[in-house]
Amino acid sequence: MVSLKTNLCGIELDNPLIPASGTFGFGYEFAQIYDINCLGTFSFKGTTKEPRFGNPTPRIAECERGMINSVGLQNPGVDKVIEQELPKLRKCFFKPVMANVSGFSVEDYVYTCERLDKMDNIGWFEVNVSCPNVHGGGMSFGTSPEAAAEVTRAVKAVTTKPVIVKLSPNVTDIVSIAKACEEAGADGISLINTLLGMRIDLKTKKPVVANKMGGFSGPAIKPVALRMVYQVYDAVKIPIVGGGGVSTAEDVIEMMLAGASAVEVGAANLVDPYACKKIIEDLPRVMEKYNITNLKDIIGGAH
Ligand code: SIN
Repeated sequence: MVSLKTNLCGIELDNPLIPASGTFGFGYEFAQIYDINCLGTFSFKGTTKEPRFGNPTPRIAECERGMINSVGLQNPGVDKVIEQELPKLRKCFFKPVMANVSGFSVEDYVYTCERLDKMDNIGWFEVNVSCPNVHGGGMSFGTSPEAAAEVTRAVKAVTTKPVIVKLSPNVTDIVSIAKACEEAGADGISLINTLLGMRIDLKTKKPVVANKMGGFSGPAIKPVALRMVYQVYDAVKIPIVGGGGVSTAEDVIEMMLAGASAVEVGAANLVDPYACKKIIEDLPRVMEKYNITNLKDIIGGAH
């Protein structure tokens, strides 16, 4: 009998699977096709202080072994998330959920997190300082250790729940940013968000997405994600949520060996809405194949 249990910042998860923000909506849409309580948890759509319509279309470009998105943080704003999305979720998901929060100023992050902190079905914050698709916010906080630390410190001051900071891979030194967040009080680090990329349409000879560039995700980015999880595990003591190109049970195990306590699945949900359920069901088989009894025991095992 194998155990899939893991622990994320003091909260026990039945398994390490976490659908990544932006690929699982606010959960209840997926609850119409399967019981989402089989998940460890999920990270809901990146929420901002004000509602956002998002970027102009087209926002998606297909790529080999991945995709580019330039959604631009489309979301109904924190008030509607509290009034409409979370009550709907409460009826179909009985575990703590991860609140993904974005902002355009430190005050934005503080406002949104302070409001969401009062919601009893939120277990963790995933503070997104890594969205590559907006100007004047998002990734600009996650590409400097000082700015990432400032957001972390400000959010920690107004919240009671674990704060996990989601980092951008579009940097030269991910370790210095992760360490700055840890020193500023972060309870965990989530990585990686998407890699800034682009595609050009040969017929129009113009960029495929209207915003010209977007975030590249999918199986092609897994080696980069693994490398960053491995490096950050060596440098910090707080738990890591590892993600980037994960689409199989084998990928989950690889990510945990690199140092992840829990694992996010993003683009794979857009290919197959049952992806996370299938990975959870397949994990015992793959664990047995590689003589793993407790998933918890393999965290950081590659070091
Ligand atoms: C988006 O809404 O543009 C994607 C979110 C992100 O990459 O952080």
